[in-house]
Amino acid sequence: MAKLSILQFPDPRLRIRARPVTGVTAEIGRLAADMLETMYAAPGIGLAATQVGVDQRLVVLDISEKGNEPRVFVNPEILARAGTETMQEGCLSVPGVFEEVQRAERVRVRSLDGHGRVLEFDAEGLLAVCIQHEIDHLDGKLFVDYLSELKRQRIRKRLEKEQREARGKPPAAARAI
Ligand code: NI
Repeated sequence: MAKLSILQFPDPRLRIRARPVTGVTAEIGRLAADMLETMYAAPGIGLAATQVGVDQRLVVLDISEKGNEPRVFVNPEILARAGTETMQEGCLSVPGVFEEVQRAERVRVRSLDGHGRVLEFDAEGLLAVCIQHEIDHLDGKLFVDYLSELKRQRIRKRLEKEQREARGKPPAAARAI
C-alpha cells in the first residue's frame, strides 16, 4: 500500500470528469486500498480518485465513528433524489474550509462495490451528503462551487498563497534564467 498525494484547489486536474471503470481488476483493488490509506492518514471520511489525479470513477468512504468500516464504490451514480438538507462540509482538496452546502436529503444510489458486485441502496444523512460530494468530484465539481463567487475567490487566493509558501521560494539562480 502507498499513500498518495491529494490535489488541492484550484488545481485544474480537479476539474476533469472521470471516466467509468471498465473492470474491477486487481489494479483497481490496489488503487482503492491506497486511496483508503490516504484518506485515513489525512484524516478524512471520503476520497474520490479525481483527488489523487486518477481519471477513474472510484470513491472510498468511511463514515463510521471508529473508522473501521471502509466502503468502496466503483462507477457510483444517483438514481433519484428527495428533499433538501443543509450540512457543513469540508474537503481534503480544500483544506481548512468548512461551509454550509444544500444537497438532497435522500438519494438512491447504484454502484459496484470493490469486488465488482452491483449495489443499490437508499442513503440519507451523512452518507447521502458524502456520496453526493464524492460523485461531484468524479464530475469535476467541488463543494466551493456551491458558494458565492466572492467567497470562492477569497478561498482560492488564500489557498494559492499557502501553496506558494509551502513550496518555498526557488533559489536565486533558478529565478534568474
Ligand atoms: Ni472532497
